[in-house]
Amino acid sequence: MPITIITGAQWGDEGKGRAVDWLAASADVVARFGGGDNAGHTLYVGDDVFKLHLIPSGILHDRAVNVLGNGMVINPVNLLKEMDTLAALGLDVSPERLKVSTRAHLITPAHIALDAAKEQKLGENAIGTTLRGIGPAYLDKAGRNGIRAGEMRDLEVFGDKLHAAIRAANQTLSAMGQPLLNADEVTPPLLQAAERLRPYLTDTARYINRRLREDRAQILCEGAQGTLLDVDHGSYPFVTSSNPSTGGALIGLGFGPTHVNRVIGVAKAFSTRVGGGPMPTELDIEDGDPAETAVARHLRGTGANFWDEFGTTTGRPRRVGWLDAVMLRYSCDVNGYTDLALTKLDILSGLDELKIAYAYELDGERLDYPPANADDIARARPVYETLTGWSEDVSAIRRYHKLPEEARYYIRRVEELCGVSAIMVSVGPERDQLIVRD
Ligand code: GDP
Ligand code: IMO
Ligand code: MG
Repeated sequence: MPITIITGAQWGDEGKGRAVDWLAASADVVARFGGGDNAGHTLYVGDDVFKLHLIPSGILHDRAVNVLGNGMVINPVNLLKEMDTLAALGLDVSPERLKVSTRAHLITPAHIALDAAKEQKLGENAIGTTLRGIGPAYLDKAGRNGIRAGEMRDLEVFGDKLHAAIRAANQTLSAMGQPLLNADEVTPPLLQAAERLRPYLTDTARYINRRLREDRAQILCEGAQGTLLDVDHGSYPFVTSSNPSTGGALIGLGFGPTHVNRVIGVAKAFSTRVGGGPMPTELDIEDGDPAETAVARHLRGTGANFWDEFGTTTGRPRRVGWLDAVMLRYSCDVNGYTDLALTKLDILSGLDELKIAYAYELDGERLDYPPANADDIARARPVYETLTGWSEDVSAIRRYHKLPEEARYYIRRVEELCGVSAIMVSVGPERDQLIVRD
């Protein structure tokens, strides 16, 4: 059974890109199945830092064919920019190596304008979206008004559809008191993009199933966002508009569950979140007590390093907190993880003590699972166990048994609390800064 699915087990930015990069060397196909350029996957190879938003991380490996699946929402202009950036770095982004699903939906300037207008209207209750037009594009998909990538094949029809989409968006924008879009200005870049992208358009579900059948290809599915941002399983409404958890891979690429043999959850050794919504273990970085603020600053970093906790896509500082095993356990259930990949263990070095939330208290009750309602999650108080930290720099360690005893105990507690073992632990952003366990 040749399919491995990798998804984020928390609120995104867990290090999925680097986890995919670790396995992509032996993959025939690497495929994104959901989201769009709200994702930012960072890969550090040699002296180069790659920030991928739409293109799967397999593009950095010569062999893998990279697929943008039907479950994605794609901004064609931004896809071309990303392709051009990678081509300028010497990577092969030809249609032999990159395939775009004809069934994927397109993000237009109308979606981007509507995303911004809706966020502005929500004011202090804003979701804190990435403003990439993701929500409005999925709304059009579900509302059966969307434009699919395959429609870029006929420029005349595509142009008409774009004009109609912009007219419809302008009605909403006008009712919201927002500036209107000029269709004659915003459509030409999309039409030019369509012309260039035509050779890439593929029936990717058919392609994947043919590769599975004919050459037993190894397929690696690269999740974007994270389980706690899933429109069904996350802290609704503070979520994205797709299903970034395991089930989304089946729908977003078009294969059956019988092909899947591994499901890997990528989790950071602590918690981060960017955007609004509840985060029970968040540490107050501004006004907390001095000890709490110091830990928060330690976890976030100053921004001097590219791996510090500032968004890859938006540059926004990420909220930080202790590891939340209540959420992680829930993610393990929702995704059916066979293994965990635990990232950024190196960042915990130098903290005297570490905390892991193993339960919540809500209205006098103790919970070992997160409540469904965002307000209840916000009111839940984490119950912590405290572990001894370690001072050693672990970034040069490549063997599990060489890790400080306290670090191994920390990992063991995470595994016990979630019931899933960590197959990989990363100790730095570089490709080889990881410990793979038997
Ligand atoms: P993704 O969206 O899940 O792919 O994650 P991002 O790329 O948005 O954020 C993860 C950040 O952490 C990136 O800057 C990675 O280079 C960095 N990173 C990943 N693993 C490690 C690690 O083990 N240690 C450190 N220090 N940085 C890491
Ligand atoms: P990767 O793949 C972290 C968050 C946004 C916001 C919410 C909705 O890099 O892990 P959207 O623009 O999707 O409508 O925003 O989801 N969000 C992410 N947070 N990493 C991501 O992707 C994210 N993609 C969306 O911050 O809270
Ligand atoms: Mg990211």
